[in-house]
Amino acid sequence: MADILITGGAGNFGRTLATALDAQGHALRLLDLPACDFGFADQLQNGRVFRGDIMDPAALAAPLDGVDLIFHLAAILPPASEADRDRTFRINVDGTRTLLQAAQASGAAPGVVFASSISVYGDTSGRAERITPGDPVNPNDIYAASKVEAERVLAESGLPWVNLRISAIAIPEFLDPPEPWPFQPDQRIELVVLDDLVRAMVALVDKKQAFGKTLIIAGGPTWQITGREYVTRWGEIMEIPEDEMSYLDRPGWLNWYDTDESEAQLGYQRTTLDDFWGQLKQAVNEALA
Ligand SMILES: NC(=O)c1ccc[n+]([C@@H]2O[C@H](COP(=O)([O-])OP(=O)(O)OC[C@H]3O[C@@H](n4cnc5c(N)ncnc54)[C@H](O)[C@@H]3O)[C@@H](O)[C@H]2O)c1
Repeated sequence: MADILITGGAGNFGRTLATALDAQGHALRLLDLPACDFGFADQLQNGRVFRGDIMDPAALAAPLDGVDLIFHLAAILPPASEADRDRTFRINVDGTRTLLQAAQASGAAPGVVFASSISVYGDTSGRAERITPGDPVNPNDIYAASKVEAERVLAESGLPWVNLRISAIAIPEFLDPPEPWPFQPDQRIELVVLDDLVRAMVALVDKKQAFGKTLIIAGGPTWQITGREYVTRWGEIMEIPEDEMSYLDRPGWLNWYDTDESEAQLGYQRTTLDDFWGQLKQAVNEALA
């Protein structure tokens, strides 16, 4: 069993990942900002909470002491990331550098799994083929530019690393539609559910072969549809007509992805799009019961 640090451990991914790793018997350290709600951590068998900032080296010594693996999830995301470029780069890039330098200095040489994003590819709407991990990056907003820089810091850290370019998350819950949906009607999209993403991350704990690679994490072939197909089906289940929802007025980041390697390495794509629609229907029925 491994000693694992999760930065951003109180966030959306962090909480779900922590619960899954805890169930496997790993020893966890969860690091997040002091104001975060760590209530869920009371349920963990073996989880220690550290309240601190990844930009503060003094706050990193204890959570890094003797750690085998770091899941580096702490970041500022859209829309907050787009308000202040300097702040976003301080957290997402300088914070990553401070964390990895402290990890290097600790002498333990832990592996690092980095939560990057498919946003790094920018607008790929002109592409006929699926996006592959080796395609050039072309960030077109502050968040994506900060992820590109953080990936560079990761690659130059001297630590063993895996770079996960993660697609957008589909949420099977009774929610209002996003205003607007983050894509256009004819745009190719491929989302992923959090359970499958977390399954991929958990599989990485024992996957030394995956280190040194950039992998795209997305739902797989059953999730490759257009924005309109997704929104129409979502609207049927939620009983909201498509013409009462709105789309981006320019192409969003999403596309179809080549996940052959990530799936071969990590075996995480267990939730088909039809499974997801079933989960969403069930969530709606429960909410309306
Ligand atoms: N949500 C998505 O659809 C998505 C998609 C692709 C990649 N990602 C990446 O996955 C990671 C986790 O995303 P999430 O959805 O859980 O976001 P989240 O906002 O729920 O979690 C991020 C966590 O980082 C913490 N954090 C921010 N600044 C910090 C700092 N200076 N020091 C310590 N902790 C700090 C926040 O308090 C928060 O709990 C992020 O790196 C994000 O860029 C998310």
